[in-house]
Amino acid sequence: MKERIAVLFDLDGVIVDTAKHHYLAWKQLAEELGFNFTVEDNERLKGVSRMDSLNILLDIGQVKVSEAEKVELATRKNRRYVESISHMDESEILPGVSVFLAELKTNNIPFALGSASKNAPLILEKIGLYHAFDAIIDGNSIVNAKPDPEVFLLGADALNVAKENCVVFEDAQSGIEAGKRAGMKVVAVGDQRILTGADDYIESMEDTSLSRIKDLFF
Ligand code: BG6
Ligand code: MG
Repeated sequence: MKERIAVLFDLDGVIVDTAKHHYLAWKQLAEELGFNFTVEDNERLKGVSRMDSLNILLDIGQVKVSEAEKVELATRKNRRYVESISHMDESEILPGVSVFLAELKTNNIPFALGSASKNAPLILEKIGLYHAFDAIIDGNSIVNAKPDPEVFLLGADALNVAKENCVVFEDAQSGIEAGKRAGMKVVAVGDQRILTGADDYIESMEDTSLSRIKDLFF
């Protein structure tokens, strides 16, 4: 193809496995509020913003709190999450990511981060990838959380590439929907039995390559 293509990456679950840290911090909060929070429940929080995640959690526990208490609960969860990721380093970059990013760089394909997380810059610093991305769009830069397409549309703008020439890598259903609503190609990363609506499915980032994503445009 003649047009320039670009790649947009979700962070949590695509570049680095932070899901377990989120899960344990939410679980502890649920226990303090007097209910259990399971791994299955946690699936519903993937890709979802911090406040939306809290609302889902409170809904699961059928707990009603004021807006001020919600802010306190979200802050408490985030304090623990940040503490738990504070020891993260590049060994936690998911398999296949570094090789693929190097292939994109060698071929002058621009790539950006499109994450719901407000902790994205901190995590990228910890794993040594902060300067690898041509643009970083994260939870601090957006108004509307996934499945709204805003995060990926801002990514395409920042890279100056047409949205229909962008490929999104996502591990969450809300993110796949955001990518499709942005008018982009979407590669789902993870369990095919629970993810739907993508243009391609891979189990791990080890299964992708530049030629495989180029094939999406034909
Ligand atoms: C997403 C995660 O990337 O970021 C969600 O998949 C998380 O689980 C969301 O809730 C917001 O993250 P943070 O770091 O801003 O609380
Ligand atoms: Mg994710």
